[in-house]
Amino acid sequence: METPETIPSPVKVETMKAALQTGYGPDAREVIRVGHTDVPTYESDQVLIEVAASSTNALDWHYMTGLPYFIRLQSGLRSPKRQIPGADFAGVIVGVGDDVTDFAIGDRVFGDVSQGAFAEYLVAHPRLLSLAPQSIPLEESATLGVAALTALQGLRDWAAMKPGDRILINGASGGVGTFAIQVARALGAAHITAVCSTNNVDTAFALGAHRVVDYKKEDFTGIEDKFDVFFDNAGSKSLRASQRMLTENGVFVMITGRKGKWIRPADRMIGGAIGSKFWKQRFAGGTASANGRDSATLAKMVDDGQVRPVIDRRFTLDEAVEALAYQAEGHARGKSIVTVR
Ligand SMILES: NC(=O)c1ccc[n+]([C@@H]2O[C@H](COP(=O)([O-])OP(=O)(O)OC[C@H]3O[C@@H](n4cnc5c(N)ncnc54)[C@H](OP(=O)(O)O)[C@@H]3O)[C@@H](O)[C@H]2O)c1
Repeated sequence: METPETIPSPVKVETMKAALQTGYGPDAREVIRVGHTDVPTYESDQVLIEVAASSTNALDWHYMTGLPYFIRLQSGLRSPKRQIPGADFAGVIVGVGDDVTDFAIGDRVFGDVSQGAFAEYLVAHPRLLSLAPQSIPLEESATLGVAALTALQGLRDWAAMKPGDRILINGASGGVGTFAIQVARALGAAHITAVCSTNNVDTAFALGAHRVVDYKKEDFTGIEDKFDVFFDNAGSKSLRASQRMLTENGVFVMITGRKGKWIRPADRMIGGAIGSKFWKQRFAGGTASANGRDSATLAKMVDDGQVRPVIDRRFTLDEAVEALAYQAEGHARGKSIVTVR
């Protein structure tokens, strides 16, 4: 019989490696470092996840800079309340609260936690999780967070897109845009015009665009066609010019606008909501909401072969600062992964 001394006890990890944000600023190298911190503790309605990978988002820039300023009401006035950046993650559940019934230890999951994903462990509420798709490596599931949810909710819910619709996607080559082309196809778009820069034209065609306009060479507002949905993921044209591209019953979906210190890009959304009272067409927009149900829809789309992540660059957790600095340049081609283990 084994004595108590010889029975192996479960390893209890107390500290972990993570990216740690100490202040706000535009240069990731000045406000973020990789170090060690406590493994977060989970409540009875939460799970603990061993993170396999995370991915970068334009959203990370807002939390890194604390801009526009009003987001600091939530994120912390002088310095970030939550120190660990990173919204998207994929990993394996290693701890389950007593009240959690829908997930178990060992489940491979992914989702969007807004912040906290550039770490070896994170705590999440089950309503934010989905089982990972089986047809792609777990670390690639870490790309199916904010950007993919925005593409899905923006087209399916905000635009209420219908099969047979003609879709215009401005900003088609980044995280949101590469998913939006594929989601539009999966939802039955009859035609997709994608707007991106020269280097990404081939990618946009490969993802399913019928026509690609290179914004470096041509002003897409000059094309004659009208669209049922204008999915604006770049905010590069005036609302008036954008409205002219819509059919009579078309919908303008505003995902973003120019960034600024005080209120931008929210000003464009407010301006659009007011201005569109005088439009015939509908105006829609908002902020994507993280939820496991939509993540599960995306996982199914991946396993059904309708959606695949476009991987731009790969970084390690030790290179998280470089990953965030690259994302902040604003020229991502699809999604960049931060591999954690
Ligand atoms: N409302 C929401 O809930 C929500 C959610 C996610 C993201 N967003 C916002 O949506 C925007 C896109 O997010 P993302 O994750 O896709 O960003 P991203 O991955 O950084 O991609 C940005 C893309 O925009 C393209 N771009 C830049 N200038 C352009 C222009 N003038 N015309 C057309 N394309 C242009 C870039 O392509 P080139 O390199 O070819 O220029 C790049 O591929 C960001 O502003 C983000 O903050 C909003």
